[in-house]
Amino acid sequence: MASVTSLTDLVQQRLASALSATLPEAADADPLLRRSDRADFQANGILALAKKAKANPRELATQVVSHLVTGDVIKDIEVSGPGFLNVTIADRAIVENLAARYADPDRLGVPFAENPGTTVIDYAQPNVAKEMHVGHLRSAVIGDSVVQLLEFTGETVVRRHHIGDWGTQFGMLIQYLDEHPHELDHKDAQVTGEEAMSNLGRLYKAARKHFDSDEEFKTRARRRVVDLQAGDPHTLAMWQKFVDESKIYFFSVFEKLDMEIRDPDIVGESGYNDMLDETCRLLEESGVAVESDGALCVFFDDIKGPDGNKVPLIVRKSDGGYGYAATDLSAIRDRVFNLKANTLLYVVDARQSLHFKMVFETARRADWLNDDVTAVQLAFGTVLGSDGKPFKTREGETVRLVDLLDEAIDRASAVVREKAQDLSEAEIAERGAQVGIGAVKYADLSTSANRDYKFDLDQMVSLNGDTSVYLQYAYARIGSILRKAGEVRPSAHPELELAPAERALGLHVDAFAEAVAEAAAEYAPHKMTAYLYQLASLYTSFYDKCPVLKAETPEQVENRLFLCDVTARTLHQGMALLGIRTPERL
Ligand code: ARG
Repeated sequence: MASVTSLTDLVQQRLASALSATLPEAADADPLLRRSDRADFQANGILALAKKAKANPRELATQVVSHLVTGDVIKDIEVSGPGFLNVTIADRAIVENLAARYADPDRLGVPFAENPGTTVIDYAQPNVAKEMHVGHLRSAVIGDSVVQLLEFTGETVVRRHHIGDWGTQFGMLIQYLDEHPHELDHKDAQVTGEEAMSNLGRLYKAARKHFDSDEEFKTRARRRVVDLQAGDPHTLAMWQKFVDESKIYFFSVFEKLDMEIRDPDIVGESGYNDMLDETCRLLEESGVAVESDGALCVFFDDIKGPDGNKVPLIVRKSDGGYGYAATDLSAIRDRVFNLKANTLLYVVDARQSLHFKMVFETARRADWLNDDVTAVQLAFGTVLGSDGKPFKTREGETVRLVDLLDEAIDRASAVVREKAQDLSEAEIAERGAQVGIGAVKYADLSTSANRDYKFDLDQMVSLNGDTSVYLQYAYARIGSILRKAGEVRPSAHPELELAPAERALGLHVDAFAEAVAEAAAEYAPHKMTAYLYQLASLYTSFYDKCPVLKAETPEQVENRLFLCDVTARTLHQGMALLGIRTPERL
């Protein structure tokens, strides 16, 4: 299916050629076209051009208008104010554009990006043998949406779940399990995520207790870390048990989140173990890293501690051990040289920004990153409780992600049940999950990622306002109208005159492609939520003002059904790009 040129782009092209006909040196100038309340679009670019050409802006604008082709797409154009151009689109052009989108149900006429590349995205990276918390929620939800957005624009996306599966705590866990071999056994073959996690949690607590109280155990545990990093087979096998047990739990949480995480994409810190020595050697040989107090370090002029001394990135500790930085630097080499990425994207808490700043700068000095390969941290803010402080339980503990999701599903099920007319219990449960998880995802995605946001379930599942539930209901309502229409099918009638609410809705549907392009290019799912919320609002005012099934003529009924359906498809596609379901009935 061919992509559809949006009305904005068409007008933009027309204006550009009229501009260059008027003022040849302005051939590449941006007419600064925007949607406007006064007309359909307003172009403000003439002012700056006139200033540059030392011309009278109103006169220049008038000349541009005289060079402009009108009568098909552009119904009317007039000069206003100091030299603005107000553009009105022909009704026929709006309906024809939407009809072309409608004929392409898979992509709604959205073009692919001009120069797609390969992006490796690092997201959804919980830690082995630990509970997942709200921070892990954000990385997973934002990352998943960015994956969908990028893939929709034609980018090749490689997913990497950089789970925390390496490090000193494993010595303690492995040693304890070795001494208490049955602690991870399951009663039956069907192990649930919760059971897996409660086993791990119990074991972690017991191991910790031993570690803190028993000096001899502590020594044995420390030796175990060395065995692990040296690749001792028995120790590795024990470690694998922890990883497998944790994965059962991770997968259960991701499933609850209605998110597809694939096993081969889980390449945790341990996956780069074989590269660590070489990473250090390369950095040392190139002089990027130097020895300092026995450790291998990278220094930065602008990164200093409170005492004024430079704070280094430690690539190898003085005891020879490797940490988080060595792993991340090795992962960069893998992603650049083996996976052939052009872009490395990290969806990670803003509190790790200093780490990434140092890691990226180190990689640039080593020429692993350069003009052809860039790295970006898509840093997200903290999830806050209703008190405005980082989200904690009443006892001051970190809130378990599963508990939160279950609560969201409960609340959403109550909302669905209240509204449901003809839904069975099973349907209520299914819709409750789709609404509840959608609400959590939407709330997370609808503020720009770098900002903190308050986790407020009541607000999230509210039917009014900027929530996924509002969008899901708009979608379901359209479905019910289409069902009620029975034999009468949606059909575009470009010959009809449109009401203002129809025009506003139509122009916004046509702008979907731009919203996708912008959200993808800026890694900004919140631009997609804003687009969709406005779409649902414009639909609501259309629905209030323009009777659909009771419209005046049969053609108008069909045309309005068509507007309904193309809106529904756009809502559905846009929500899918956020990882949110749109149930047919609610
Ligand atoms: N596991 C880490 C955490 O829970 C996040 C990993 C981020 N990714 C990375 N490449 N360092 O904080």
